[in-house]
Amino acid sequence: MKRVVVLISGGGRNLQALLDAGTDGRLGARIVAVISNRADAYGLERARAAGVPAQVLPHADFPSREAFDAALAELIESHHPDIVVMAGFMRVVGAAFVRRFLGRMINIHPSLLPRHPGLKTHQKVVEAGDREHGATVHFVTEELDGGPAIIQGQFSVTAQDTPETLAERVMQDIELKIYPQAVAWMARDTLELRDGRVWSDGRPLAAPRRLDDLETEFR
Ligand code: GRF
Repeated sequence: MKRVVVLISGGGRNLQALLDAGTDGRLGARIVAVISNRADAYGLERARAAGVPAQVLPHADFPSREAFDAALAELIESHHPDIVVMAGFMRVVGAAFVRRFLGRMINIHPSLLPRHPGLKTHQKVVEAGDREHGATVHFVTEELDGGPAIIQGQFSVTAQDTPETLAERVMQDIELKIYPQAVAWMARDTLELRDGRVWSDGRPLAAPRRLDDLETEFR
């Protein structure tokens, strides 16, 4: 079974979905460690409750981004992962770190990338009057929130939506479904990052897969 290391900084709802899918067999991979850059991340407790080793590497202990990245990379590698999953990991990582895990590291972002990279995506959606919103799982490349997209899920924004309702809809209806799905694909070796594009089952994807189009046990 493929080995997965999950990086977190906070509540870990995405992590919980991955842990649950690991336990009931849908993930087809084993989560071997959870690493947080913050000691108070609730996700650490979720990991421990699931019997998964939980480790803290505080970024504030390091003199530079490069030094933190290097220590984090060593810690990750000590678990011999096939797949590295950023699940609400709120640190920007540098080019050397990205290159080291290129093609085996993925991230989830709460918007329909390339729309709204960065923070405060739900507020940006309201301010822009977007009709659609959602989330994206993508390979991590040197471009922040800019790596090739694997899967997206979307929904229609209503006049009643606020940044708070959007945050909950994106998490509950989209993120908790598309992330386990993407990791399951990675675990089955059906995905590849090649020449800056996502290949699925040996063919380049013209566009990210869409949750709505899938017959999947993750919906
Ligand atoms: C998610 O919205 C994710 O897309 C973003 O950070 C949030 C993490 O939430 N990158 P959680 O820690 O999984 O609850």
